[in-house]
Amino acid sequence: MSRPPIASQMRLDRLLANMGYGSRKEMQGLAKAGRIVLDGAPVTDADRRIAVAPDLAQRMTVQGRPLDPPPGFALMLHKPLGVTCSHKEAGALVYDLLPGRWRMRDPAISTVGRLDKDTSGLLLMTDDGALLHRIISPRSHISKRYRVTLDRPMAGDEAALFASGQMVLEADDKPLLPAALETLSPTEALLTIDEGRYHQVRRMFAAVGNHVAALHRDRVGGLDLPADLPAGEYRLMGAADIEALFGA
Ligand code: URA
Repeated sequence: MSRPPIASQMRLDRLLANMGYGSRKEMQGLAKAGRIVLDGAPVTDADRRIAVAPDLAQRMTVQGRPLDPPPGFALMLHKPLGVTCSHKEAGALVYDLLPGRWRMRDPAISTVGRLDKDTSGLLLMTDDGALLHRIISPRSHISKRYRVTLDRPMAGDEAALFASGQMVLEADDKPLLPAALETLSPTEALLTIDEGRYHQVRRMFAAVGNHVAALHRDRVGGLDLPADLPAGEYRLMGAADIEALFGA
């Protein structure tokens, strides 16, 4: 499902309402009260059309606070264990790790693919449908790298099988694309895959008689999970991050 492109110019009341700040009427009230400031001057007319650009967050304040990221943004989250990549399942959700107001945004923020509840690591999120589709499109060849900890030592033939392009998982009809396995120790490896099938890494190791004890994604495309980003925290992505993501 493709979304319409994010408008480059928008009425101020609509922009802020879509960003979850409140109703358009409330935004008109805030503007009248001089509580919305752009480039140092109050914008008292909420009908005014505003150019929607990433730098608006540095140029506008709402009730004295810098504006949230304007529409068309992406972030990287260090997903902790135990949270689900879903908008509506029971229990802790990745969306709970973002500011509450961001839940009301239109366009909504979505995860770029999913990580299992029991998988930690780099998860991208965006409200930009075109960017999301570009990242997940097979044509973009965005690989994902996982650090895998296994219950049992590897047999030694896993790398060749995973790289073969001939491996068919139970309940699948198409073979997996070749995947690269780098062994770190008998029970630890880095696995790089170019697709994102359901529980793919766990199923690949189950197919060779092993069991994944812990799974952590440390890289997507050419973008590494920042070493200084603690589990449960997020960082907005800048142009250099997007370039790194597609540049691998
Ligand atoms: N493969 C899995 O099995 N789980 C994930 O979360 C990601 C890839």
